[in-house]
Amino acid sequence: MSKSKLSKHRHISFTAHYTGYIWYQMGISHSAFATPQGKALALLAHPVEKLAEKYIGGSMRTTLKTRHTLLDEHLTQLIEQHPNLQVLEIAAGLSPRGWWFRTHYPSIDYRELDLPAMAETKQASLTMINLNSPEVLSADLFTQDFKNAFAVFDPKRPLVIISEGLINYFDKALLMQLLKSIVLYGQDFKALHYLTDLYPEPVQNKLAKVIWSSSKLLKLLSRSAFSFHFVTPNEVKQFFTAAGFDQVDVVQPKVYFAEPNSQRLNLHTDHPDHQQHQNEHLGDLVWMIHAQLNEPKA
Ligand SMILES: C[S@@+](CC[C@H](N)C(=O)[O-])C[C@H]1O[C@@H](n2cnc3c(N)ncnc32)[C@H](O)[C@@H]1O
Repeated sequence: MSKSKLSKHRHISFTAHYTGYIWYQMGISHSAFATPQGKALALLAHPVEKLAEKYIGGSMRTTLKTRHTLLDEHLTQLIEQHPNLQVLEIAAGLSPRGWWFRTHYPSIDYRELDLPAMAETKQASLTMINLNSPEVLSADLFTQDFKNAFAVFDPKRPLVIISEGLINYFDKALLMQLLKSIVLYGQDFKALHYLTDLYPEPVQNKLAKVIWSSSKLLKLLSRSAFSFHFVTPNEVKQFFTAAGFDQVDVVQPKVYFAEPNSQRLNLHTDHPDHQQHQNEHLGDLVWMIHAQLNEPKA
């Protein structure tokens, strides 16, 4: 892909080196995804993170762990429901998820996608681990190349799109464009699921002020429109529904992690605990969205 075919929303790749290193530090990744840039950024952030964890009770990396766990557990559940699942992880960066799920669930078809430079870096890391790793798809989500990525999959099988650490970088208009593209390109699949994390407006949280200031810094460094778009889960539901999804669940960690492991994933739309909190921001810094299309209701 030539540089002229890239949208202007592409300056956030450096953050993938940071998160890539954090996944490695957490012991859930492979050294092949830990880059020197990631290590340098993690070292730089470490003192502030330590202070935040000691005095405020949470930090950037604790929200990373939360979002990663939510996405992994929901993906695992979808694989258990659909053993022939196909997965497209967009903006995959240096996340270990594709490698881990391909290793543990060989029956699924799991592909990753990112901007050309990051796709190349990821490909090199994957090849270090396994010469037969599938090709990392190279595409800008706001160009025709994104549509072409869907052609790699079989529409007779269900497809999951996953994004992590992505959608707050776009303004609302662009986010709507992305969601509508996912619905349009995925509408002929047997079932379409979209799993994503989302940082809501930080309210009722001791970290709120720190998060606001950090978000301004991130906006500047990434030359993006980094912002918080939603205050209540219902606002998220309406937005995703307007984009064309027919079922939308907003998962709030305070509700989700309060349940024993075996019960967590039953907390879906019709569950009373879930219903009760759909119009209430419970103070979590990160949520997970599970949006669906064409999936018969359980
Ligand atoms: C914050 S990083 C997150 C990486 C990974 N998902 C994680 O959680 O570790 C954001 C990723 O989005 C990718 N990205 C940004 N704009 C994009 C676009 N327009 N099309 C495709 N990928 C994009 C960047 O290259 C980067 O890898």
